[in-house]
Amino acid sequence: MNQQTGKLKPGEARHPDETTQEIIARDAHAAPAWARDVSYTYMGSEDISRDRYTGAEFAAGEMARMWPRTWQMACREDNIPEAGDYYVYDIGPYSFVVARTQDGEIRAHYNSCLHRGTKLKPSGTEGFSNDLKCPFHGWSWNLDGSLKDIPEKWDFAHLEGRKMCLPQARVARLGGFVWINMDPSAPSLEDYLGEAALAHLKAWKLEDRYIYLHVQKSYPANWKLTMEAFMEAYHVGDTHPQVAPANGDVNSQYDTFGPNVDRFISTLGVVSPKLRDKYTEADIIENFTLGDSSAMGGQKPELKEGQRARQVMADMFRAMFEQATNTDLSHVSDTELLDTYSYTFFPNLFLFPGISLPMIYRFRPDPRDHRRTIYEVMFMRPKPLDGDFEMAEVQILRDDQSFAEAEGMDPGFGVILDQDTDNLYAQQEGLEASAKPGITLADYQEIRIRNFERTIDTYMALAPFAASLEELQP
Ligand code: FES
Ligand SMILES: [Fe+2]
Repeated sequence: MNQQTGKLKPGEARHPDETTQEIIARDAHAAPAWARDVSYTYMGSEDISRDRYTGAEFAAGEMARMWPRTWQMACREDNIPEAGDYYVYDIGPYSFVVARTQDGEIRAHYNSCLHRGTKLKPSGTEGFSNDLKCPFHGWSWNLDGSLKDIPEKWDFAHLEGRKMCLPQARVARLGGFVWINMDPSAPSLEDYLGEAALAHLKAWKLEDRYIYLHVQKSYPANWKLTMEAFMEAYHVGDTHPQVAPANGDVNSQYDTFGPNVDRFISTLGVVSPKLRDKYTEADIIENFTLGDSSAMGGQKPELKEGQRARQVMADMFRAMFEQATNTDLSHVSDTELLDTYSYTFFPNLFLFPGISLPMIYRFRPDPRDHRRTIYEVMFMRPKPLDGDFEMAEVQILRDDQSFAEAEGMDPGFGVILDQDTDNLYAQQEGLEASAKPGITLADYQEIRIRNFERTIDTYMALAPFAASLEELQP
């Protein structure tokens, strides 16, 4: 065990190598405040019960108690730029038509007809519509949810005086995303995220990016197990060995910013502390595979006497992205250009605001199988100055396809996701075969998992969510 054990309180031990902040502090272009925050809180060392990953009852409990009370990213504002544009967001059995109204507002209507319940728009679709008309008997609503028409109204005299507008979830707009929450008494999105996380998110200006590549695939494991596979860099050495020569994995930094947001920072352009004796600075450049390395066009910069690989990589990325996007990045720090900033926004969103690999992950439980997760990865680029861009359409991969088969996917990154997929098959099945009642977590490197599970627990302690129709009607 680490020699520090016994001298320090639980959660205080760190890898003895240089810290993420020490690495970043040596960069030529200084890091912004949101990158320099350090915020770790020890939350106990108890095992986490395995039933929560294996049992259908637990998943049903989450659907009843947790999902309806959380702020979820339903879509990008760019999905519905014009009045009449709509996007159907589904979470488990719940479904919402997120629509842009005539006066530019966004509403999230329960996707269910007030006559006999038919879905107004099919799940998984988006498009344009002048109104929301049920395909069964033709009842229709305006985009703001007010009732438009009931065919053969003479037969519904008993509806006189009844409120017939569509029930709605709450909507918030932040970072170019449309967020929804079914709970009329939930805190505002701002309060839910908390001050620190809100400042980070605002600083990234994600509203100035657009999605140029969107890939979806089903992962063979419970949604929490799947998300947790992306919450630490501890697994990099054994699962993604190709990355370790140019990635600070076990000295990554982990932060929690309250119950709903946490992150890790994993530095690139430095060797893993585990391999420090085996690789020189020149080897780091030779082995650099993460980030949008395809954009280098096979070119690897040469290292001159006394130069640090990390700085050379940062300078190269800066020049490369400035050229590719016709922008001035002189104000952008080296760490933003190079490093992996992985944030979780509870319950199911990951944001990676870094410049070299800006991404969004979204995870949703498969409503037909609690041992499966619908996973989406979206890659972002700065919006061009002329405003002329196209949102990527989602490419859906089959189970037997590699992520590298998605059109436009960096092949090196596709391999990384395939490696994670293989682990998830083995982990879901292994947990079900286990004689041990719980999983064990590292105090520091796996703090995001503990924070996440702890937040789940706070919702699981509540009664099932319920709201009256009247409460949901505007
Ligand atoms: S079910 Fe919608 S109009 Fe009849
Ligand atoms: Fe991984």
